Amino acid sequence: MPPAYKQLSTHDPEEVSVDPTSSPTSRLTSRLSFTAVARLIAVMVLAYAGVRFLTRAALKLRAPCHSGLQRNLSSLPTHYTLPSGDKIPSVALGVWQASRGEVGAAVTTALQAGYRHIDGAWIYRNEEEVGQAIRESGVSREELWITSKLWNTFHAPEDVESALDDSLKKLDTQYLDLYLMHWPVAFKKDTTEVDKELTANPYPTWQKLEELVEKGKVRNIGVSNFNIARIQNLTANPLKVQPAVNQVELSYWNPQPELLAWAKENGLLLEAYSPLGSNKQVKESLEAPAVQTIAKQLGITPAQVIISWHVQRGTIVLPKSVTPSRVEENYHIFALPEDLFEQLETAATSHPPLRVVNPSKSWGLGYDVFDDYPQ
Ligand SMILES: NC(=O)c1ccc[n+]([C@@H]2O[C@H](COP(=O)([O-])OP(=O)(O)OC[C@H]3O[C@@H](n4cnc5c(N)ncnc54)[C@H](OP(=O)(O)O)[C@@H]3O)[C@@H](O)[C@H]2O)c1
Repeated sequence: MPPAYKQLSTHDPEEVSVDPTSSPTSRLTSRLSFTAVARLIAVMVLAYAGVRFLTRAALKLRAPCHSGLQRNLSSLPTHYTLPSGDKIPSVALGVWQASRGEVGAAVTTALQAGYRHIDGAWIYRNEEEVGQAIRESGVSREELWITSKLWNTFHAPEDVESALDDSLKKLDTQYLDLYLMHWPVAFKKDTTEVDKELTANPYPTWQKLEELVEKGKVRNIGVSNFNIARIQNLTANPLKVQPAVNQVELSYWNPQPELLAWAKENGLLLEAYSPLGSNKQVKESLEAPAVQTIAKQLGITPAQVIISWHVQRGTIVLPKSVTPSRVEENYHIFALPEDLFEQLETAATSHPPLRVVNPSKSWGLGYDVFDDYPQ
């Protein structure tokens, strides 16, 4: 059955308003006044449309991308879900090189600004002050995400649990949300001499970390500074718990697109350390022309551009600052309009990669721990 269309009116709309009983003069008058009114309405509609168009064009000229930014404000993830089901906040305060005497205030500022994720490590030698600031903040433990890392001297299976216990005691907490193997390098006990066997095969260390999960002292475990080959070397073993994250250097200077693509394909979340280029390269990062252009276009700071870019790439980001205004600034991230995100991605991946953190030489490894420079 064809659809029952409504019969269209054959009347000329102008004639509808004409009273057939009126005189020709009055008909003419009423026709004239109707035409005038119709014209007036048409002029008003056109004028309204014109003003609307001009206002919009003027706003666009003043802040071409702000409207895009506003639309996207809420679309960056605030958390990622780990294989355990735990939700890890996407922005953390990093506390490496936040010295004792200033790290506590930085943590306090961060928690007041809304951070709920602190990225620390036993080797940063500031866990007691971090713990004290957390305790005094009044933020409940359940609301917080605390990460610490197993230092290289404690990879021997018999040392792993006591190393964790020391961090727990210093941080004054019953459990960690995330415990990472800090480096794919094991030192012999109380030395900086490399334990070649445990370095080549980190599985015995990992098994102890798995036990800590079973005991409830740690909710998630992961690795740090592992390249693809080293992750595969570990995960080739019959793991009970897969690494939840890999914390690596990711910045404008060292964006590691291949590692990021591989991690996404394999469901492994990356955490971006030294995201601003660390203290050695921070100025160069913030002054990079691509970063500057986007910051000006969007009316946000260069640090916010970079930190937002990291989250938009799908990683956790761990900016460190002990400067209160920067701690706050770094927490406010914005989804970049797609074209600007791509511009930054292209700029970051179009120069030779440059790492800030690589202790291979100072540890006397005799090889590059990242295999960037095969020897
Ligand atoms: N797993 C690992 O092996 C490893 C290695 C390195 C780092 N990390 C983690 O990643 C975190 C961050 O890395 P990072 O500390 O090397 O470097 P980063 O966060 O890239 O940079 C820190 C530097 O940037 C400055 N800064 C921060 N925010 C700024 C802003 N808005 N404007 C201008 N300058 C700003 C800081 O100065 P102020 O503090 O003076 O404000 C500091 O000098 C560490 O704290 C640590 O938690 C892990």
